[in-house]
Amino acid sequence: MIEKVKTDFLAWFGGGREEIRTFFAPGRVNLIGEHTDYNGGHVLPCALEIGTYAFVRKTKSGNVRLYSQNFPEKGVITVPLTDLAYRDEHGWANYPKGILAAFQASGVIIDSGFDVLYYGNIPNGAGLSSSASIELVTAVMVNELFQANFSTLELVKMSQNVENNYIGVNCGIMDQFAVGMGKKDRAILLDCQTLHYRYLPLLLNDCSIIIANTNKQRGLADSAYNERRATCEAALTKLQQHLPISSLGELTSEQLAKYAHVLSPVEQKRARHAVTENERVMQAAEALENGNFTRFGELMKQSHLSLRNDYEVTGIELDTLVEAAWKHEGTIGARMTGAGFGGCTVNMVKDEHIPSFIEQVGREYAEKIGYEASFYVVKIGDGAKEITEKEEMML
Ligand code: GLA
Repeated sequence: MIEKVKTDFLAWFGGGREEIRTFFAPGRVNLIGEHTDYNGGHVLPCALEIGTYAFVRKTKSGNVRLYSQNFPEKGVITVPLTDLAYRDEHGWANYPKGILAAFQASGVIIDSGFDVLYYGNIPNGAGLSSSASIELVTAVMVNELFQANFSTLELVKMSQNVENNYIGVNCGIMDQFAVGMGKKDRAILLDCQTLHYRYLPLLLNDCSIIIANTNKQRGLADSAYNERRATCEAALTKLQQHLPISSLGELTSEQLAKYAHVLSPVEQKRARHAVTENERVMQAAEALENGNFTRFGELMKQSHLSLRNDYEVTGIELDTLVEAAWKHEGTIGARMTGAGFGGCTVNMVKDEHIPSFIEQVGREYAEKIGYEASFYVVKIGDGAKEITEKEEMML
């Protein structure tokens, strides 16, 4: 794969193969803890082996030339280092531009141009963090090329900031954190308020993680996402009149129940999800540490039900996929993952049942929804990094 993409790089940019450096950042899947990150709660994501590769070479010009094999119709996009403002017509290239602008804003001198070719194997817009992946692969790359010496955590925060303030999506920190800090065969238990984190072994033994993509086009996802955030913030402000808290993540279900009357009915539901989901993450982490996958699976189910009934971010496509999975004998756990409103589900399935799972859940989905879902059996991999020559040989 790498050699073929490098040949494409040379076709676009010329020059010699030797000076090309290769970087990688994964996609992520969240096992449990949805819509808790911006509420100051916990999440339990992991990095995937699929992700975004960046092939790069410095040049002597003052321009950056960007090409993505995922958007060939856009061709090579050339931007001068002196003008990195967001432009609609640059589409996907605004992500790397935003990262470069952030490096400049933090005082790093980008003293030469470079050519970069991106290649990604994360399905776009499926809720597996293809945007955090391109942000982090660019951030790690620029950090190395220009010896900026930022820590990975600083690059994670920078990338979230670019997403919030340059791209304009008001996301929490989970995606960038998982993509930057992921570790092979580990899930990350992250407290999004303090950024304290711990790696938990994810030794699946005789089962696998299957991601199922609804393939639903997500039109209004960003506005609905921002609306959920705003409702939670309004609920927090009201609760703060009675309780000394700085986020919903600090509340227990009992405390919330006691003060629920100060909230509107919708705020009560949204806050209840944020609080119970946070509690479920802690229970799920314990179950994982004890190797109790049955309990883990039950918590995944409760998480989905809460996202369906209280947070109302599932929809017919995700519900159909998850309900079909719950019925299957090989399923240990299944729930929606990511922001919702379409996107993907995450399933833990016993290995011997994988083919029948894909066949049966796929059939039920297509019959009810009218188009096919896609299934990916995924592996848990490392966070963003440079790929060494030795590693390249293995890809
Ligand atoms: C999106 C956001 C994350 C998080 C999830 C929901 O993936 O980017 O910050 O809020 O939705 O858990």
